[in-house]
Amino acid sequence: MTESHAPFTAPSANAPAPSPATQGQRRLLTLLFVDLSGSTSMAEWMEAEHYATMLAGLRALYERIVPHHGGVIARIQGDGMLAVFGHPEVREDDGRRATEAALELHAAVRSLVPPGPKPAGFPGLTLHSGIHAGIVLVNDGDQMRGRFELLGNAPNIAARLSEAAKANEIIASEESLGLQSQFFETGPRFLLQLRGRATPLAAYRVLGRAAVGRRFDASVRRGLAPFVGRDAELATLDAALAAALAGRTLWLGIRAGAGVGKTRLTEEFLRHAHAQADQALRIHRGYCESYLSAEPLQPFLQMLRHMDSPAPGEDMPPELFAAQHSAPGQRADALLALLLALARRTPQLVFIDDLQWADDASLRLLHRLRAGAAAQGLPLLLLTASRPQPALPGANDGDAEIIELPPLTELEAARAVQQLLPQSDPFIAAEVQRHAGGNPLFIEELCHAAADTGERLVEGQSSSAWLAALVESRVGRLPPEQAQLVRLSAVIGNVIPVWLLQALTGCGEQHPAVQALAAQDFIFPDQTPGHLRFKHGITRDVIYEATGLHERQALHRHISAQLSARGGAAGQLHEQLAYHDAAANDWPAAAHHAEAAGDQALVASALDRAKKQFRAALAALEFLQTPEEDDGQARERRRRWVGIAQRLGMACVFDASQDDLRVLKHAAALAQADGEPGLIARTEYWLSYVGYALGETRDSLAHANAAVAVAQRCGDDALLAQLPGTVGQLQAAAANYAEALPMLDLAIARQRQRASKSPANQIGLSYSLCCRAYVLGDQGLFEQAHEVFAEALAPFDGSGHAVEASIQGWRAAVFLWQGRWAEARGSAATAHRVGAQVRSMFTCAMGHAAGAYGAWMQDADATARQRILDATAWLAPRGGGLYSSFNHGWLADILSTQGDAGAARHHVAMALKRGRQHDWIGGAMAYRAAARLAARMGDVPRAKRYLGLARGAGEQRNSDHEAAVTALLEAELKLDDSWQAALERARSAFERMGMTGFLERAQRL
Ligand SMILES: Nc1ncnc2c1ncn2[C@@H]1O[C@H](COP(=O)(O)OP(=O)(O)OP(=O)(O)O)[C@@H](O)[C@H]1O
Ligand SMILES: [Mg+2]
Repeated sequence: MTESHAPFTAPSANAPAPSPATQGQRRLLTLLFVDLSGSTSMAEWMEAEHYATMLAGLRALYERIVPHHGGVIARIQGDGMLAVFGHPEVREDDGRRATEAALELHAAVRSLVPPGPKPAGFPGLTLHSGIHAGIVLVNDGDQMRGRFELLGNAPNIAARLSEAAKANEIIASEESLGLQSQFFETGPRFLLQLRGRATPLAAYRVLGRAAVGRRFDASVRRGLAPFVGRDAELATLDAALAAALAGRTLWLGIRAGAGVGKTRLTEEFLRHAHAQADQALRIHRGYCESYLSAEPLQPFLQMLRHMDSPAPGEDMPPELFAAQHSAPGQRADALLALLLALARRTPQLVFIDDLQWADDASLRLLHRLRAGAAAQGLPLLLLTASRPQPALPGANDGDAEIIELPPLTELEAARAVQQLLPQSDPFIAAEVQRHAGGNPLFIEELCHAAADTGERLVEGQSSSAWLAALVESRVGRLPPEQAQLVRLSAVIGNVIPVWLLQALTGCGEQHPAVQALAAQDFIFPDQTPGHLRFKHGITRDVIYEATGLHERQALHRHISAQLSARGGAAGQLHEQLAYHDAAANDWPAAAHHAEAAGDQALVASALDRAKKQFRAALAALEFLQTPEEDDGQARERRRRWVGIAQRLGMACVFDASQDDLRVLKHAAALAQADGEPGLIARTEYWLSYVGYALGETRDSLAHANAAVAVAQRCGDDALLAQLPGTVGQLQAAAANYAEALPMLDLAIARQRQRASKSPANQIGLSYSLCCRAYVLGDQGLFEQAHEVFAEALAPFDGSGHAVEASIQGWRAAVFLWQGRWAEARGSAATAHRVGAQVRSMFTCAMGHAAGAYGAWMQDADATARQRILDATAWLAPRGGGLYSSFNHGWLADILSTQGDAGAARHHVAMALKRGRQHDWIGGAMAYRAAARLAARMGDVPRAKRYLGLARGAGEQRNSDHEAAVTALLEAELKLDDSWQAALERARSAFERMGMTGFLERAQRL
């Protein structure tokens, strides 16, 4: 490959057009809006001259205090002021700076005395302020518009927050401060409904400063995640400590990017070093700050202040007094002498955090300390933590032995997420990992965001402004060539094909600018050769967001052109083209490619991708609608929409949501409007299928019947061939086994003939067989059921296909009915694992719950109940209810056995509520739980009544195993003399049906 090492040249023939100058720059800014409280009434009683003097005093304060905290005044209007933090350069602590400025302004204004006479009861001058951060378009200003013009909603929101604040209050939005709120004492989080904003804004009142110096201490205040990994690094540190205790001088430098865990690692190490070495070791800590770091020698002075109060009986060397009273010019020497004197007595450990921000005097002292101790052979371990600095690599800790701290491995990251969000579904956990890319700070933040909002992370939406500032501040420090390159890469996407980057910029993988970005952890080579990838999804999202809209669209257009030229026609790149065309607002192309990509994904059984693409295609089609469209075009577009919606239905049978159902309902309405029977029949069919997958059994049956009727009328034989399977499944779900079985048999007979023709047919056959198997199982015909399961599973066993997960899930349920706990757990584990792999939340969650219930029945596993609750919660946001009476039945059973009457009753009620959609599968179990609860309370008549209802619920399903288990409970509760007869009935039924687990229970009685 020939590499041009010439600087990155954007304006080549195929470079995007520069954005118009008038568009301004997109920037992430933190905005502080302050206003004088009660100024209207003040203007009434004050003389104009006095008022003018007071305003001048106020403005002088603004002009002094805002720049002191790194802010810029954007405009002053009357007594109010808008200041921005993050211009021209974004800093990771802009939110903190804005808040510090607000606190100082408020204090200063309180002590300002307006001239002239004041009315009785005048409370003095006070401000009220609002702080918010967001993307703002910055234009140069003029006399009218102030120093610059700020376009975007964020300044308005800051002003609204200030309006909402009472006199003397500072209200900051949660997203502007994020973790930095921990630097301050704040009131409780509350939600504010602001005009012009769809969702309420979370905010709090800032009450004052908290005693927190580092970001890490802020994390400690909020609560740290349990520590994971880092075994090798801890071992290295332990070895260094041992060497120091044995009399050596060492310097270890921990190096890694922001948030990778330098401070945490050291704190963990120091904690156990302290516990281990105790008296034999003295530990000193200091840190450097980028902010308010007026004080030279900051970290060493922090150590000195800690020595003020020696432990009782501790005898401090005279050098302490000398250092405490040294003149500034002699301070470094005195500190050096002190630390060396201490090291002559006992081993010393000196830890300096955030060395990248150290002042020169501190750095010099550090180097002298090391040299001095080494020359005298003193026991001293110097430990420093520092971010890598592109400009001067190794400038600060160049003499140290470096420990490069890697990001967490996938496994460690998964453990961290699991511990932070113990109840989260596996998909949220995966999403967090994808965005955070092993950076524990990002993991913590995303988990907190997910826990606070209970929402899923949205692609392309960075979680909080302060985190975005952290990323943008890094981009801001890049040389222009690299900054431009990383922005372009962000527009390409998370994964960057090297050929594309080369085509667009002339920079290949070996180009120094690309290498520099890799060295700074922005991008790295992907597993697929020829591709680069963003290290953290967050980084990509933040950079993308901060790229101007016009620049972005131009780049998307450009990328799309390159992709088309490369192989769009060959159908290789539909997914990428769909993305870039949509982002460039080229809707016809976007619709075309998204539809094609969806079809390809459907063929490959990548159902989640198919779903995503079909939804994108439908969205693009909406944009294609124009007022000039004639009737024919409108019909064409409508039909295309309905056709795509039908395929969406096909893609979501294993993992449907209420959103999908809404799309199909809309499609059904469009089909009705169109009037073409074939279109109507098929749409009704898919509507019924998606409804089925969501557990809306009753409504789905109605749609299925409608599909049958219309298909018969228009002679759609292909559809008619599909319908028995669907109707059979629906009838099975509604526990109408007498209707279900003939339908399923008919479907199976047809599907058997066609199974060899296509994989899709094979899936249909296996799913029908699976339904037949569990219907047989529910009737207690276990042997037959397992034979049919085996046939259903054979083509898919070990395939990792969604249908394998489904079948295994049902098999687990049937094993549970039969009391074969270990086998149930095995099948459930496969359903859970494969379900997660193919992103079918339904099977994944059902597998999780079924496995937990098996563990409860087999070993009385105490974690079972929580695991079933988790699985139930995972499904809740999708609004899916299919067979959820299972979960409630299991929970009711466990909770009633544990004696948690309140919770048990809740799940009894939930299980029975599912009956409204004809989901009766957990009904008998729920009534048994109710009977057990009543018996515990000594209410025999009620317990008997529930037992009767349990029997009835079993009979309704013609379910022999339920009858036997109900009889067992009757025997266990011993409500009257008939219990022995019940036990006999149960025992012989268990023997007959091979219900081993239950038989053991009966025999124990
Ligand atoms: N091994 C770990 N296990 C669990 N949590 C971790 C681990 N390492 C770091 N964290 C968490 O991630 C967050 C960021 O870690 P830390 O503050 O140590 O990063 P850092 O490298 O010091 O970053 P900076 O350069 O910004 O100071 C902390 O809240 C910390 O608790
Ligand atoms: Mg740190």
